[in-house]
Amino acid sequence: MGELLEKIAKRRTFAIISHPDAGKTTLTEKLLLYGGAIHLAGSVKARKSNKHAVSDWMEIEKQRGISVTSSVLQFDYDGYRVNILDTPGHQDFSEDTYRTLMAADSAVMLIDAAKGVEPQTKKLFWVCHRRHLPIFTFINKLDRFGRKPLDLMTEVEEVLGIKVYPIDWPIGIDGRYKGVYNRLTREVSLFQADTSHGSKQLAVIKGRLEDEQIRSRLEDEIYQTLLDDIDLLDMAGEDFNQDQVNRGELTPMFFGSAMTNFGVQEFLERFLKLSPQPQPRQLQNGEILQPDNESFSAFIFKIQANMNPAHRDRISFMRICSGIFEKGMMVYHLQSGKMIKLAQPQQFMAQERTIVEKAYPGDIIGIFDPGVFGIGDSLSDEKLKLQFEDFPVFPPEIFARVQPKDSLKRKQFEKGILQLSQEGAIQVFQQKDIGVESFIVGVVGTLQLEVLDYRLQNEYSAQLVLNQLSYTVARWVSAENPEQIEAIKGLDNGMLVYDKKDRPVILVNNEWALNWILERNPGLAFLSVPPDAAKV
Ligand code: G4P
Repeated sequence: MGELLEKIAKRRTFAIISHPDAGKTTLTEKLLLYGGAIHLAGSVKARKSNKHAVSDWMEIEKQRGISVTSSVLQFDYDGYRVNILDTPGHQDFSEDTYRTLMAADSAVMLIDAAKGVEPQTKKLFWVCHRRHLPIFTFINKLDRFGRKPLDLMTEVEEVLGIKVYPIDWPIGIDGRYKGVYNRLTREVSLFQADTSHGSKQLAVIKGRLEDEQIRSRLEDEIYQTLLDDIDLLDMAGEDFNQDQVNRGELTPMFFGSAMTNFGVQEFLERFLKLSPQPQPRQLQNGEILQPDNESFSAFIFKIQANMNPAHRDRISFMRICSGIFEKGMMVYHLQSGKMIKLAQPQQFMAQERTIVEKAYPGDIIGIFDPGVFGIGDSLSDEKLKLQFEDFPVFPPEIFARVQPKDSLKRKQFEKGILQLSQEGAIQVFQQKDIGVESFIVGVVGTLQLEVLDYRLQNEYSAQLVLNQLSYTVARWVSAENPEQIEAIKGLDNGMLVYDKKDRPVILVNNEWALNWILERNPGLAFLSVPPDAAKV
């Protein structure tokens, strides 16, 4: 096997999706612990007081105790190179999460055993499902009282409409959780609780159900329940089918406790075996690009400015889709039509950065960005010059007019607004012909406005005056002739603005107003996303 094929076969790139508080940060940390990337997992309590979870980057995250930006973490396990795309759990940042999912080959859906399928789980599940991403389910917090495993299975099946195949079945529930039974290998793992509160790897006793060392460690009631459950699942449950997993039609389910490490290693090992290697990617022209294509290609799914406040830098994260990346290589950037040198490529392990010499399909690398890249941009060998499929665009629902508080700071202010919109943190619109240059920002959730305010002050030293507008709906406008667009300029119940590509957009208070305008302006059409963007 050639170098490229070998590397592809051993790569796994996935995102963890969940409702806030299901335990994503904890699970990520524990996967890193088992991957040897960290040696002592800080308990979440310790993180709250003095130490922050490894994937927290930005100051605002620390202050608010939430995870705002997606980060990428990498570790090796059993010959595999694992790339975890950490997605923010807060619902206001769903846009960022959706973009991150574009770079993943599979997703791990984390569910709190006591809460079941929550609203954010559903939203994120649907995005994955629509893209036919393979989804693995990890039911977390088994150390506590929770819903019955069979009920959780049924809930996932009924609420999300995906078939479930439990691979690890819990032994003992409701505070009596002892281990897991693997239905594929028929092997039992019993966990030896220690006093490290999950900061170290657990000792595990492995064996078959009939083995005396297993049997003697389980109370009769727990043992009998396990036998009954296994019989029931084998008789009435789905069969395991890898093709269905690959198509995202069946989700392998695992049970564990990220906090106590119960079931984490068992999950990781099985997940690496069953999850897909880097997959072919869809191109704009309808063709499919195979990862083992020798020519290099990648797309940018995330841009983050000022990750290190001391350096004022801006990093673009790209997912490699084909070929081999080598440090310093020249690539063609489709959107600017220029050849660009990929100097100082970096990989990220929390705040530590390492320079990458070589990287392969599935890998995520960050490069210093001189300000030319945008979300969804395509990079490739000059001979390929390809364009990946467009990223989904979300119509913003909250709008505000923003201005610098101090007009002497206008330059910093404009730079900040422009960069944050390139990062995809906000969408920016402008009104035309009103004398002063005025920016209108559009976001999906109000927390984004707070982040905008905070970052402009902290990163660009520009204070903001922000006036929220009453509009809640944005539509891109197309017309048979430009005069029809002119005609809706002076509307009382709407505002005509232009996006950063100079496309006209109408802002109104409600859907009803849209119909009102359409009825009076034949020839106009309204689109919920830009005319050339993919719909979610
Ligand atoms: P998130 O990133 O998905 O938002 O969740 P995070 O890991 O921060 O975990 C949210 C809370 O759930 C934390 O508690 C964490 O300790 C707890 N947790 C995570 N995994 C488990 C688990 O397997 N079992 C139990 N019992 N709890 C778990 P917290 O209330 O924020 O802090 P604390 O006061 O409990 O330390």
